[in-house]
Formats: sequence, structure tokens, C-alpha cells
Amino acid sequence: MKDAAIILEHVSKKYRLSHQPYSSLKGILLSIFRYRRRIEVHQALNDVSLTIRHGETVGLIGVNGSGKSTLLAIIARVILPTAGKVWVNGRVAPLLQLGVGFHPDLTGLENIYFNGIILGLTRQQIAERLPAIVRFAELVEFIDTPVRAYSSGMVLRLGFAVAVHTDPEIILMDEVLAVGDEAFQHKCLRKIQEFQREGRTIVLVSHDMNQVRQVASRAIWLHQGRVMADGAAEEVVDHYLQFAEEIEKQSL
Ligand SMILES: Nc1ncnc2c1ncn2[C@@H]1O[C@H](COP(=O)(O)OP(=O)(O)OP(=O)(O)O)[C@@H](O)[C@H]1O
Ligand SMILES: [Mg+2]
Repeated sequence: MKDAAIILEHVSKKYRLSHQPYSSLKGILLSIFRYRRRIEVHQALNDVSLTIRHGETVGLIGVNGSGKSTLLAIIARVILPTAGKVWVNGRVAPLLQLGVGFHPDLTGLENIYFNGIILGLTRQQIAERLPAIVRFAELVEFIDTPVRAYSSGMVLRLGFAVAVHTDPEIILMDEVLAVGDEAFQHKCLRKIQEFQREGRTIVLVSHDMNQVRQVASRAIWLHQGRVMADGAAEEVVDHYLQFAEEIEKQSL
């Protein structure tokens, strides 16, 4: 499909969880004799098929552990699926675990270069975009300070600023709008709207249903690794909220 930015066909992901009872002497002995050494397999994604077109903004919703981050990491090629096929057509900015790639001993400026190169920019491109990145992150006074002295919000702002200045065609966001203070959140929303006007593709994971309604035209609801609903954001969010209410009633 020519206008497709992302295609997933029958994608599954299984994680192996091994339980090794090493907490007691008995456990150690038993494990030596390969007793009770259980390997459990957890199916984080189960036969997921979907197509996202260029220019779409899609909200990915679902309860904790439903597979949202796993799905984004597969699209970003950070992890491989156990089964199924994945096509991604365009430069991707993965805003998944912001700041994780930063080196604490390097300054903000040095980390911009470090991170920018990892994200595929040349030194010259980084130099050209540097003023915009520093301004966006609002870290002008702190740019020569080692990142270890930054607050967690400052680290996230710097990670966000670098990622959005890589000229991405596809932006993947995992709960990044929930970080940062109110003013920075507004700025991120404005950046998303700018990306939308420019026809870029956005897939965002959020637990804030108002935000999903506001930003996304389409929503995909994952539950236990399967697609429960996929359609107009308003409808899918309503459906999900009804479900969440039922679950809450049952647990009372
Ligand atoms: N590295 C891993 N090893 C083993 N299991 C994992 C791993 N990563 C995720 N899982 C499991 O896969 C399932 C899906 O996890 P995932 O992080 O994709 O959920 P999520 O929808 O992003 O949840 P949340 O809303 O809490 O962020 C969970 O049951 C989780 O425990
Ligand atoms: Mg997650």
C-alpha cells in the first residue's frame, strides 16, 4: 500500500520469564538438579494486524500491561517480534524512554551531539539545529552542566527536544506527554499540532483519554496483547472507558 506508513501483519511477541528459586539453600540445590525450574512464556502481543497511513495520528490505549509499549518498540525496531511481519516506511523518531541514552557525565550540549548522532543526524545538521533544540528544551543556562545535575523533567525535555528536531516522518510517543510541567506539556502539544499540519504520522500511547480525544483522530485499544477495537478516537475511547468502569465495579 503506497500511502501506508506502518503495516503490521499477524505480529506476536512472547517474552520468556524464568523463575529460578535461588532465594534459599534448598532452592539452589533444587535448581542445580534442574528441579522446579519453570520457564514461563508471556504473550505480550497476540496476532496484531494493522495499517497506519501517512499523516494519521493514532492513539494507542489500554490498561497497564496490555502491550502498548511492546507494540511501539516493535515499530521502532528496538525489539523484534516473535512472529509476524512489520513494514515501516519513513524516518522514525522514537520517543520511548526519553533520556535513557544520555550519558550523565557529559554536558547537555555534548549529549545533544551524542543523542543526535545515534538518531541519525550528521554533526553539521546538529550544529544547525542546536539553537532550536536548546531553546525548545529551555535549557540555555544549563547546557554546559553535566546531565547528572539535571532534574528528571529537564532530562526528559532535552530528550524530547532532540527527538523532535530530527525531521522525522513517523513519531512514536510512549506517555511522553505526561512528563514535564504544565507549560512544557502545552509546548509539546503545539509541536504535535505542527507535525499534524505538516502531514507527519504520529502514534502515541497515553492514559489520558481527554488528550487522546483531543489529539488523535483514530484510536486502537489493546487488551492482553490483542486489538479490542480500532476506529474513530471518540468511539474507541468511550468503549474503553465503559469497559474500565465495569472492571472497577467488579473489583469493588
Ligand atoms: N522485557 C520483558 N520481559 C518480560 N516481560 C515483559 C517485558 N516487557 C514487557 N513484558 C510484559 O509484557 C506485557 C506488556 O507490557 P507492555 O510494557 O507492552 O505494556 P503496556 O501496555 O505498555 O503497559 P503500561 O501501561 O503499564 O505501560 C506485560 O505483561 C509485561 O509484564
Ligand atoms: Mg507502557
